[in-house]
Amino acid sequence: MNKHQLISIIEQMTLEEKIAQLTQLASPFFEGSDHEGQITGPMATLGIKEEDIRNSGSVLGTSGAKEVIRIQQAHLNKNRLGIPLLFMADVIHGYKTIFPIPLAIGCSWDLELAEKSAEIAAKEAAISGIHVTFAPMVDLVRDPRWGRVMESTGEDPYLNSQFARAFVRGFQGTNLKNDLNRVAACVKHFAAYGAPEGGRDYNTVNMSERQLRESYLSAYKAALDEGCEMVMTSFNTVDGIPATGNKRLIRNLLRGEWEFDGVLISDWGAVKELIPHGVAENESEAAYKAIQAGVDIEMMSSCYVKNLKQLVENGSIDETLIDGAVFRILSLKDKLGLFDNPYRGADEKLEKEIVLCNEHRQIAHKLATKSCVLLKNEAILPLQPKQRVALIGPFAQNGDILGPWSWLGSKEDTIQLYDGIKLKVKSSDIFVAKGCEIETGTEEQLDEALTIAHQADVIILALGESSEMSGEAGSRADIRLPEVQLQLISRLKELRKPMIAVLFNGRPLDLHGVIDQVDAVLEAWYPGTEGGGAIADLLYGDANPSGRLTMSFPYSVGQVPVYYNYFNTGRPKDAPDAQERYVSQYLDIPNEPLFPFGFGLSYTTFSYSEATLSSDYLTPEQPIQVSVQVTNSGEIAGEEVIQLYIRDVVGEVVRPIKELKAFHKIMLHPGETKTVTFTLTEEQLRYYHSDLQFKSDAGEFIAYIGPNSKEGLALMFKLVK
Ligand code: BGC
Repeated sequence: MNKHQLISIIEQMTLEEKIAQLTQLASPFFEGSDHEGQITGPMATLGIKEEDIRNSGSVLGTSGAKEVIRIQQAHLNKNRLGIPLLFMADVIHGYKTIFPIPLAIGCSWDLELAEKSAEIAAKEAAISGIHVTFAPMVDLVRDPRWGRVMESTGEDPYLNSQFARAFVRGFQGTNLKNDLNRVAACVKHFAAYGAPEGGRDYNTVNMSERQLRESYLSAYKAALDEGCEMVMTSFNTVDGIPATGNKRLIRNLLRGEWEFDGVLISDWGAVKELIPHGVAENESEAAYKAIQAGVDIEMMSSCYVKNLKQLVENGSIDETLIDGAVFRILSLKDKLGLFDNPYRGADEKLEKEIVLCNEHRQIAHKLATKSCVLLKNEAILPLQPKQRVALIGPFAQNGDILGPWSWLGSKEDTIQLYDGIKLKVKSSDIFVAKGCEIETGTEEQLDEALTIAHQADVIILALGESSEMSGEAGSRADIRLPEVQLQLISRLKELRKPMIAVLFNGRPLDLHGVIDQVDAVLEAWYPGTEGGGAIADLLYGDANPSGRLTMSFPYSVGQVPVYYNYFNTGRPKDAPDAQERYVSQYLDIPNEPLFPFGFGLSYTTFSYSEATLSSDYLTPEQPIQVSVQVTNSGEIAGEEVIQLYIRDVVGEVVRPIKELKAFHKIMLHPGETKTVTFTLTEEQLRYYHSDLQFKSDAGEFIAYIGPNSKEGLALMFKLVK
């Protein structure tokens, strides 16, 4: 369809029909849904009328080819102009083949596999009838108390931007109309949802516009530059105004400055939440503020459908605002080819063949091996198949390793850790016990664990948080493992046997009581459907750990937020002339996190040498090359992530101590050396000045090239303009 044809549809629509397009409801409202009529709880109070449903534009959270086709058919029978519904859902890190959580995918530093995971998620979702996924979530995160850090790729703007692009490419492909195996992506949560005060979900976000632009906005922008079709607003305030009614953020910045002309949807109920936030007196004012700001679709509240008509009729808002929103929604339907084929990729037969097929599971396995991060290894890993193993802990035989955002993944389809280890060791040499539940335990459970541990050469502890302990509304103030699991570790420690902890969790934890007690720690996050097999490969050396942290592990929660790209302060602790007391420090704990951004061990070792610059001067016309030789100095093949950071020594505003600018993940055989070269351009040295201009300053810089944000070879150069 061309623009005129779309406009001509809009011209035929009544005001009520247009407004109904702007409301998104969950499937129970729709005829043909498996949940038809199950309208309970807050849904029952929405006050939705029969005609609103008949005219509505999109459905939330339904999937399955059969059901989607049925709902679409019933809808088209009733909808006067035959405008198809859009089906949107949260397909975050897999549809039914569940990949590791996004924070874990980040730790793989593998953009190609990340893209592939999104492509597979899109394919399974598209043939199951979904048109749009509410992903990628690209909120920058620095506070592990916030449960939703598991949905982000971490604390770095550059890395998050790279992953944002990879996910968008994977979900959308290059032609949504012809490629029925792809879905439209919706980047979220705009903006800065990842910075709630105190790490408490939905809480206030308060930061300068400069900080917002410098750190928090770049990944959303990167997703849009990659062609992401939709944006979702966030629940939080941005400079005092909730994002969903924030005209400056949406109309001026997103739509104006960034020229985003796609569909903007509110988060769940966020339009109505303008009332408790205290910026709207009632639903009518909430609708007014959201539509003025530029929100096209109101998700799961009914302020628009109940109030926009009157607001147009009494002259408070111009009908062209509504026409614009409808135009964007219909354009997306057209881009997806729904006017020609309202069922799009939905195909029951293919669904049976392709969803959770072996090929998809293999990729999930591969990505899971690359996402786990080895944090400690006192010469105990990899294990030998002949060692007798006691596998102990609430995650030993537990399928709850998919993470809180995997509504279609099922525990029954999941490879548990025990299943994986069984493939490596004779069954008579594995003993398994729970030891305790995740948050509680009994003496009998503990005794059983101690008994089996006695019979083993080595103890593998499978510990962690249940998936409800992170994710949305999953904030925690104490981010240690639950007390009962810490007790389990210390009781087993008394046996003086080698112990390895495998951790399943959605956030960086405070590892006291773990790291100091065991010989090795493998951070497995929520590794997804193939998790148990992938972890077993790593434990037994059939794969070599190559994951590197993309979010710092705090030494203690008292440091939070703790992140690698911080400012130096006027009294840095490590300055040569630092005093003993009057420096920026804690009296009781170090300033440094327990494990920094970029950190992760391997079963081999890598050495860095011959770091060189192609020139000591860089100009806007003449970039420089930064090179280093990396050697696998160990005994087995392994992958290393070579990281390039810069420091702008003197800025107009304070510059971070280090900023990631590029990275390469390479495979090296034992003894092999490769030269890795990065190009640094003037553009990469730009930053937001106090007047919000994005530009670079002439002067001195340091490039650091190394294995993580803490270690690396330093090289000085100058930007000359
Ligand atoms: C979450 C979003 C999600 C939406 C729809 C909200 O509660 O914040 O991330 O996309 O629900 O399920």
